[in-house]
Amino acid sequence: MRDTAKLGLHARYGPYALVTGAARGIGRAFATHLAADGFDLLLVDREAGDTIALAEELGADHGIDARALICDLAEPNLSAKAEEWVSRYEIGLLVNNAGISLLDPFFDISLDAHLATLDLNCRATLVLTYILGKAMASRGSGGIIIVSSASGLSGSPYFCHYAATKGYGLNLACGLWSELRGSGVEALAVCPGMTDTKPVQDQGLAADLPFYVPVTGPEPVALAALRALGKKPALVPTWADRMSAGLLSKLLPRAWTLSIMKRSIEKMRG
Ligand SMILES: NC(=O)c1ccc[n+]([C@@H]2O[C@H](COP(=O)([O-])OP(=O)(O)OC[C@H]3O[C@@H](n4cnc5c(N)ncnc54)[C@H](OP(=O)(O)O)[C@@H]3O)[C@@H](O)[C@H]2O)c1
Repeated sequence: MRDTAKLGLHARYGPYALVTGAARGIGRAFATHLAADGFDLLLVDREAGDTIALAEELGADHGIDARALICDLAEPNLSAKAEEWVSRYEIGLLVNNAGISLLDPFFDISLDAHLATLDLNCRATLVLTYILGKAMASRGSGGIIIVSSASGLSGSPYFCHYAATKGYGLNLACGLWSELRGSGVEALAVCPGMTDTKPVQDQGLAADLPFYVPVTGPEPVALAALRALGKKPALVPTWADRMSAGLLSKLLPRAWTLSIMKRSIEKMRG
């Protein structure tokens, strides 16, 4: 039996939703909410064990067709894979969630690592948005979510290139939101602040936070994004982040914002 706690998105965009980086963190939260809404799911991630286990769990719990698509999204052959997925499944909702963040001084990170970040955070987002989005446009119906970041609103010291890639996703979604209005295809950028997932824990950022840096769980971030799709071009998902990111990026001069961010990150890194 399909779950009855509906967001109402399956009726608009079903049958299939494709979520990247679905095995963990915010992607897993998106997949779980979409399963409860009745979507059949394509869960894309590079690690087979957790992704297959999640597909089996969501398929059994919600009576949906949930499949694990094991794939490194940073590989150059992504467009061929995306064409194959589009030919096999009617994908009405795309969640571009997978992303990597490297926290270090810009020149301490190798150029290869910066390029790998670009391949996943920007190139893969472009490839999937183009190929899956074009099929949605030809059907006159679809939804595209790009998971950006609050750092994409302003840029960020020690996350310089990561924040730049998140600015790319933010601006791609906002442009599409406007260009596609009235076409039946809706786009949304979601800009979370600090969210309690493995990279944040691994980077040691969740400990000893200044009072003005709120931490949210992945479930409310995903739920807020799904509720906002079709209503606005971009979303900072929680009130706490709207206060912090909004106050920082809208009210203060950018130089002040960047100085506060720099001091905060240096304090958090100890
Ligand atoms: N957490 C935050 O504070 C925060 C804040 C703002 C924005 N975001 C954005 O939210 C999104 C999700 O972040 P998260 O914190 O939930 O991350 P996460 O817990 O690391 O989950 C990301 C998932 O994507 C997978 N992945 C990474 N690279 C991949 C690749 N090349 N191909 C396929 N799958 C890949 C990861 O697999 P592996 O386990 O193999 O790495 C992991 O399962 C990212 O775009 C991130 O930039 C996060």
